[in-house]
Amino acid sequence: SDVPANPATPPCAELHLHIEGTLEPDLVFALAERNGIELPDRDIAGLRSRYAFTDLQSFLDLYYENMAVLRTPADFAEMTRAYLTRARAAGVRHAEIMFDPQAHLARGVPLATSVEGIASVLRASEAEFGISTGLIAAFLRDRPATEALEVLEDLLAMDAPIIGIGLDSAEVGNPPSGFTAVYDRARRAGLHLVAHAGEEGPPSYIADALDDLGVERIDHGIRCLDDPALVARLAAEQIPLTVCPLSNVRLRAVPSLVEHPLRRLLEAGVVVTINSDDPAYFGGYVDDNLHAVREVHKLTDDELAALAANSFRASFLDGDRRDALL
Ligand code: HPA
Ligand code: ZN
Repeated sequence: SDVPANPATPPCAELHLHIEGTLEPDLVFALAERNGIELPDRDIAGLRSRYAFTDLQSFLDLYYENMAVLRTPADFAEMTRAYLTRARAAGVRHAEIMFDPQAHLARGVPLATSVEGIASVLRASEAEFGISTGLIAAFLRDRPATEALEVLEDLLAMDAPIIGIGLDSAEVGNPPSGFTAVYDRARRAGLHLVAHAGEEGPPSYIADALDDLGVERIDHGIRCLDDPALVARLAAEQIPLTVCPLSNVRLRAVPSLVEHPLRRLLEAGVVVTINSDDPAYFGGYVDDNLHAVREVHKLTDDELAALAANSFRASFLDGDRRDALL
């Protein structure tokens, strides 16, 4: 009998997803038109031609440029709705979603606009899409920590519906140690703590995110493999890594998917989860990432199921919803 080309991947949680990174080129153009914003590219093909990235910064430049079309709560809501629609088809049942409030504040978009636009859609997500969600405010490590702390205070003062904080943007030269005050404040507020580390930066940034910031999960973390003692620690302490294979290839953190260290991490006993990071930029959503690694790394159905189980265990879900999904 015929074997389907793309057997469905198991239901999973997506734990490393930047909502601004789900802004597809067609939505960039639609929102620009609606908001009367002139774009540098004449058409979608012109914009797409600029998606050949050479490193993290070359991606960040376009990622921040495209965000300029997000002006109103309705713009943020439409982007969020489009992600959840696509994520549902990808098999996502729970999503912990990062947003970059400082990137919007820096271009004059009030905190309430990004928070309310995104949160208005997340509130209805479980009923509408069957996807439970949590919102994570990610701070930009290439901007001052004092600014991050002010934004965190504002988020707390407005009682923003966030479950945690993260740390993203240009990694090298911006180590976790600069952000201890931000993470201390978030911990006191009862928030979950994550940070990008070891994407382009050295393994010491991963250890520092654990020791200086007290994070519960590491976003990316693939460069831990440069330090065998650190790999052993991540395995022993069962610190989850939110790995993003297509992102790693597109940003040249790894030379190719074949050379991606997913299997080495799994064999070392690290709690690996598979995620899409910025799916509109890196060639696919979480199902595309799972399909790609399954094909290239010859993952068995049991290994795929283990990755999906890791995603729920590494999530910040608790209670009945966690039990239902596990
Ligand atoms: N790394 C760092 N910053 C980011 C990323 C990423 O993968 N995506 C969006 N901001
Ligand atoms: Zn990321």
